[in-house]
Amino acid sequence: MGFHPVLLLYSLIQWVLDKLLSPTPPPPKAILGRPRIAVIGAGLTGVSSASHCVGHGFDVTIFEAGDERSLGGIWSRVNNTSGLQIHSIMYRFHPSVKWVAGYPDRQQIVSQITQLWKKYGLQERTKFNTPVKSTRQDRYGRWIINENPSLGTFDGILAAVGTCGDPNMPHMPNQEDFKGEILHSSKLDGKTAAGKKVLIIGGGASAVEALEFVVHTDASTTTVLARSDKWIIPRNALVDGLLALNIFGQETVFSWIPEALLKRFFYRDLEDLAPTSEGLFTETPMVNSDIFHQIRDHKAKWLRGDIVRFTEGGIIFRHRAKGVPKGGPGREVEVQGDMVIMATGYQRPSLSFLPNEVFQEPYQPPRWYLQVFPPEHMSICCNNCTYVNAIGTVGNYHIGIYTRFLLMFLMDPLARPQEFWMKRWIDMTTFLKAHAPTAAFDFFTYSELLYWFVFCIAINPFRWKWAPFVFLGIGSSLPKNIVSREDQIRNGLGMKRRQLE
Ligand SMILES: Cc1cc2nc3c(=O)[nH]c(=O)nc-3n(C[C@H](O)[C@H](O)[C@H](O)COP(=O)(O)OP(=O)(O)OC[C@H]3O[C@@H](n4cnc5c(N)ncnc54)[C@H](O)[C@@H]3O)c2cc1C
Ligand SMILES: NC(=O)c1ccc[n+]([C@@H]2O[C@H](COP(=O)([O-])OP(=O)(O)OC[C@H]3O[C@@H](n4cnc5c(N)ncnc54)[C@H](OP(=O)(O)O)[C@@H]3O)[C@@H](O)[C@H]2O)c1
Repeated sequence: MGFHPVLLLYSLIQWVLDKLLSPTPPPPKAILGRPRIAVIGAGLTGVSSASHCVGHGFDVTIFEAGDERSLGGIWSRVNNTSGLQIHSIMYRFHPSVKWVAGYPDRQQIVSQITQLWKKYGLQERTKFNTPVKSTRQDRYGRWIINENPSLGTFDGILAAVGTCGDPNMPHMPNQEDFKGEILHSSKLDGKTAAGKKVLIIGGGASAVEALEFVVHTDASTTTVLARSDKWIIPRNALVDGLLALNIFGQETVFSWIPEALLKRFFYRDLEDLAPTSEGLFTETPMVNSDIFHQIRDHKAKWLRGDIVRFTEGGIIFRHRAKGVPKGGPGREVEVQGDMVIMATGYQRPSLSFLPNEVFQEPYQPPRWYLQVFPPEHMSICCNNCTYVNAIGTVGNYHIGIYTRFLLMFLMDPLARPQEFWMKRWIDMTTFLKAHAPTAAFDFFTYSELLYWFVFCIAINPFRWKWAPFVFLGIGSSLPKNIVSREDQIRNGLGMKRRQLE
């Protein structure tokens, strides 16, 4: 391997971040303190959150529905050819993560998750084959999982069930007539498209990934059949970072500027593929710089329209003109194919194991405090599994920040949010985003997320002492000491509080 100064610098930065910010793993067999947290899901969010908890001295049990091969969550179930579309600098899901490539593949991602899991001794704290079906509090306020106290009792719940569950395979009219093979986009390992006419249904990130797979295995023709237009942004950390800087988290009067720049310098002759009615800050964009080359080189076609029905040798497709909405009129054509890849996404994992009250309108997910804490229960944090659309990334620093918010709430009664104020924050955010084309919590940018965090720490003076801990995971002993001193004063004044520690 040649010498890459940029990669060397990247490794150096990651090494420094690890040394500065990774909490020290507990010694083997350590008896950890309270609060105890039940982490649900062993994907990167669950493993990272659990590492933060044990690294700060709090006990966890991870409950994972699948077996040991599920460690890594969705990344354990996708193709070997899958990889990050966004730059890995925005996918540092824990300070210990060390990427050796800008755009790591599935194996490298699973390997980083596994290393983290081992480093923090989570093997002895993970229960595989244990789907969580219910959660309730006993009369002491402790959480019981699956009505089974022998699984442990917990002071907090950290749900990390993700957003990509089982493959979504909608049944299409006359699908059984089709003579070729129909596969989900996540099941391409061991398959080849060589010499085949491949049809890809769907127009999201999986469709883009499938297109690249198919083109690189020398398909005879590749056609994407997309029923809606989505924004595509370049695979460039600087551009993507700048787009995530929109602190308003919505379309603004200035949004035409990045939209026009993207059309002029990125889409260029393929501007027809850019959405007309949906702005850039309404739906998660796809991150890819390659597909336009494939289309320009006539290696692939991207058609907008609706599936009418399957035939023996392909699909009758109603091809719509730009601007005509989903289901609208168009010209029906038969698109020939002998292999169909359903890039139709994944089913959303259920949060129905949480108590009913957290789903009551108008404060149902994602309309929760900071999007993840249901106002009725500040001891529940649904990390990374309530969001709908965003510009930013799922696997980054916020995982730790959300986890430490939960730890702060559980440890310090004065820093805890009350249901009334959590609801007012939700109302305020809804008001501030009243003119957004999407519902307030259905789209956010990474800067908006960070602004929420800063606001929620700044608004309550009792949280100020926690700021370095919440944002960086450092100085946890200082706030703990202050809290115990505050406790002595409060006890001296005869003020009672619910004891969690
Ligand atoms: C091919 C692909 C590429 C992607 N690329 C990117 C990217 O470039 N950038 C980006 O930001 N995001 C990307 N994503 C999104 C990806 O989902 C997240 O980045 C991230 O992996 C989510 O991790 P997670 O731990 O939150 O959820 P998951 O990885 O989905 O893990 C959730 C775990 O919870 C378990 N579980 C669910 N319900 C229960 C239950 N009731 N009880 C017990 N266990 C349960 C599941 O079995 C699973 O193991 C990609 C997704 C896919 C499919
Ligand atoms: N490397 C990467 O970065 C990468 C790769 C893959 C996935 N992901 C992530 O994983 C998540 C899922 O992505 P995804 O692309 O698998 O799913 P997705 O974003 O949900 O896209 C699914 C696509 O299928 C279409 N579709 C669904 N049902 C259909 C039907 N019955 N008929 C016709 N079309 C149908 C959808 O159209 P509508 O939009 O009109 O519903 C959409 O275009 C996203 O968060 C994505 O960012 C990332």
